Amino acid sequence: MARDLRDNVAIVTGASQGIGKAISLELAKAGANVVLAARSRDALEELAAQINRLKKDTALAVPTDVASEESIRNLLAAVEEHWGRMDILVNNAGRTLSRPLAETTSADWDRLMAVNARGAFLLCRESLALLRRSERAHIVNISSVVGVKGYTRQIAYTASKHALRGMSIALAEELRDTNIRVHVICPGGVLTEMTDSVRPDIPKDELILPEEIADWVLHLLRQEGRGVVDEIRIRRASSGPWF
Ligand SMILES: NC(=O)c1ccc[n+]([C@@H]2O[C@H](COP(=O)([O-])OP(=O)(O)OC[C@H]3O[C@@H](n4cnc5c(N)ncnc54)[C@H](OP(=O)(O)O)[C@@H]3O)[C@@H](O)[C@H]2O)c1
Repeated sequence: MARDLRDNVAIVTGASQGIGKAISLELAKAGANVVLAARSRDALEELAAQINRLKKDTALAVPTDVASEESIRNLLAAVEEHWGRMDILVNNAGRTLSRPLAETTSADWDRLMAVNARGAFLLCRESLALLRRSERAHIVNISSVVGVKGYTRQIAYTASKHALRGMSIALAEELRDTNIRVHVICPGGVLTEMTDSVRPDIPKDELILPEEIADWVLHLLRQEGRGVVDEIRIRRASSGPWF
């Protein structure tokens, strides 16, 4: 059984490239209205135009900095004005850093936490009213393999992804008797600019494709029946089993 996502309203953060762009395109193909959020206006508008060519008036580009509370409020005001409700929130915006502990500054730590953890927290909190108007709503938080384990030289990034995953587990419990489900996706290495910047050592042809992550997100959102999937972990086939 597959749930119909047509006319659902979804926000995807970090939609300007990589995994967020792939998720946005898959949601659009499934007939959802997609609100594209990231800082790069041109990339968002280009993607919105691409989606709107497939189906008119279904994508909205809203330049957003998830580190800014005001920017998040503007994003949600745009959704309220346009659709008056929301069914799907994908917290995907993220940044990374490869630096040993001794060289990780307080500013590095704050910058990563502000986007990867606090940004998602703010979006969850500020979206609640809109999500409650949906028949069945989903929050999908994109954590990481380092939301489960830890990698050397990724102190701040690992902490932020653990924080995001931990918050998601607590939020799922808090919302268990409501219409809102909370899920976590933990990908291993994906073929995006982010991986290129911190793990150039991994052969490109071993990296998971962003479209594969998007497939798993759609699978989760379409899932019907008595069972619920809380978390999906996706590792590179060439990495060790069971992270
Ligand atoms: N690549 C991997 O191997 C991997 C593995 C596990 C988890 N992840 C997670 O997956 C998510 C997407 O990563 P990716 O690989 O697709 O990375 P990416 O290609 O670097 O894309 C990151 C996205 O986040 C956006 N972003 C960054 N800072 C932002 C901010 N302050 N406000 C709003 N948007 C912001 C960027 O857009 P702008 O620059 O336009 O703002 C961009 O769209 C991240 O959360 C990442 O941690 C990635």
